Amino acid sequence: MKHFLSIAALTPDELHHLLTLATQLKNEWRRGGNKPVLKGKSLALVFQKPSLRTRVSFEMGMVHLGGYALYLSPNEIKMGGRESVPDVARVLSGYVDGIMARVFAHEHILQLAEHGSVPVINGLSDYSHPAQALADLFTILEFKKDLAGLKIAYIGDGNNVARSLLFGAMKVGMHFTIATPTGYNLTDEDIKLARQFSVGGAVVERIEDPETAVTNADVIYTDVWTSMGQEAETEKRLKVFPPYQINQDLVNLANPDCIVMHCLPAHRGEEITDEVADGRHSVLFPQAENRMHAQKAILVELLADK
Ligand code: CP
Ligand code: NVA
Repeated sequence: MKHFLSIAALTPDELHHLLTLATQLKNEWRRGGNKPVLKGKSLALVFQKPSLRTRVSFEMGMVHLGGYALYLSPNEIKMGGRESVPDVARVLSGYVDGIMARVFAHEHILQLAEHGSVPVINGLSDYSHPAQALADLFTILEFKKDLAGLKIAYIGDGNNVARSLLFGAMKVGMHFTIATPTGYNLTDEDIKLARQFSVGGAVVERIEDPETAVTNADVIYTDVWTSMGQEAETEKRLKVFPPYQINQDLVNLANPDCIVMHCLPAHRGEEITDEVADGRHSVLFPQAENRMHAQKAILVELLADK
């Protein structure tokens, strides 16, 4: 593995290896701390958008592993404005051992990887959020003990988070049903790709009815209805998405031991109610913590001396 740009680019073996490594690193950390296998290594954290989880989990992940992380806010380098993305990649490659970037256009993640000479990690683009998906699979594994054969229902917007989770689900053999309003679902291209990734008969279904989607689901997943960069559409989206709220009535249709997930930040009262977010099925906060544990596996894989 040279970069961590997408779930699509990982083989199922690489994905399982990262999940195993994440488990080991989490256990090691819980036993008193991680070994400093990234001593002397540095990671630039380049952000074009705000962040709580991605920024803090990558930064603390580096610290726990003995390395150093440098946060570069959207205003700092103004990537693509003050300086071209390829030039940012070339310059940063001279200073740091890796680049984690959160961008608007996915193309910019690809350009960082193409023009830099250090590993690049996708910390969210408009197209995908693979670090989130890895942590989500890790969380499901922790709560459900196995992944193959489970059924995930993704309710809401067919966005970056949905796409990465779909690709990951297919590669570990989980069935994936996504229910969205008309016009907001994943694309034909996404579904075609997902089917190519399917392992062990994992099935993807793209529908509109949230109740059908959650019936017999082991995992219910949602995300905000308006992603970063789509703020101008907020009002329009608030009109069409309310039937897709994860509330107790919807959760009651799923398996009695289902878990409810959300990548966060949540807009409580919109895509998820307080009752569900704070209820007995919710794994929202272990899921958020697991960003750090799962990403440590990516960091070790990409940055540790072999
Ligand atoms: N889930 C997630 O990526 O959160 P942040 O936007 O706070 O990083
Ligand atoms: N889909 C959301 C995820 C935030 C972590 C966004 O892109 O804003």
